[in-house]
Amino acid sequence: MALHTALCDLLGIRVPVLNAPMTPQAGGELARAVGAAGAFGMLGFDEDESEEAIAEQARLASAGGARFGIGLAAWVLERRPALLDLAIAMRPALVSVSFGDPAPHVRALHDAGILVASQVQNRTWARAALDAGTDIIVAQGTEAGGHTGSVGTLPLLQLVLEMTDKPVLAAGGIASGRGLAAVLAAGAAGAWIGTPFLLARESRTKAAAQARIIESDETQTIYTSVYDRVQGKPWPAEFRGRALRNAFVERWHEREDEMLASADAVAEFGAAKQRGDFTRAHIYAGQSVGALHDVESAADIIARLESDATARLAACRAIIADA
Ligand SMILES: Cc1cc2nc3c(=O)[nH]c(=O)nc-3n(C[C@H](O)[C@H](O)[C@H](O)COP(=O)(O)O)c2cc1C
Repeated sequence: MALHTALCDLLGIRVPVLNAPMTPQAGGELARAVGAAGAFGMLGFDEDESEEAIAEQARLASAGGARFGIGLAAWVLERRPALLDLAIAMRPALVSVSFGDPAPHVRALHDAGILVASQVQNRTWARAALDAGTDIIVAQGTEAGGHTGSVGTLPLLQLVLEMTDKPVLAAGGIASGRGLAAVLAAGAAGAWIGTPFLLARESRTKAAAQARIIESDETQTIYTSVYDRVQGKPWPAEFRGRALRNAFVERWHEREDEMLASADAVAEFGAAKQRGDFTRAHIYAGQSVGALHDVESAADIIARLESDATARLAACRAIIADA
């Protein structure tokens, strides 16, 4: 028995899973390991990252001709349009354009033979992604780590699946074969998984951040704009970031203007980030942290997702009674 969905055919993969393009944790080594394990690897780019650093990660991801994807943010492309050309030049099989309207970029990507995905957070963004002609729609729930919207994965997935016959992926909170089986059973073509891959040995997550993720339970995340505001990152207000709670975010959440008026607070954050002190600096991570306990290889994460989801879906046969 094996899993097989339309996503497997579209991307030429065995396991209908993508690692989310997490900035900067999802680098070339992770994408390559995920691809080698039969799923699809994605790179995340920071708006501040140099072109050389981006090209280096793409070279790692594509070593030996491996297929990979790149995640971009629409609002970043507005400020740095050259990033799209750079991404195209790296010859990815897939580019995601999320957090804003993907429409201005779809044609150039399709002309280059690249599939386009977009993470959507509500019906309006799903409509925009479909109207733009994207090939894959990712229903990204608020449980997700990093920047996201405010609707939960399950309500969002159900409504997006009703809107289209294109492959829809689920993102946000999926950390096990049970979660993967649940979204496949609902009709998703696969899962777009971030937080669990922060614990992959091949990710660029710092060891101290991995330790905090392992310590955290499912109640210890917060959906906040504190870290964007303190770093001066102009994220559109509707996309806040889900991060682990710590003393800094507890103090300044919903008091961001006051925080910015305090030179001490801004300096405290800057110094903590510099020295990797995660009692103050941020770790973006989703609610699935409660289910994560170990650092392991990407191959082990994928093998477990695949075998547990297959077993769970097979067990579902018992739920359907003969008429
Ligand atoms: C640390 C971190 C960084 C992220 N960076 C990006 C990014 O640069 N671009 C992007 O499209 N999504 C980014 N995301 C969101 C992911 O693409 C994805 O939606 C999310 O990780 C899925 O939910 P999960 O974390 O519960 O698995 C990030 C998520 C995390 C946890």
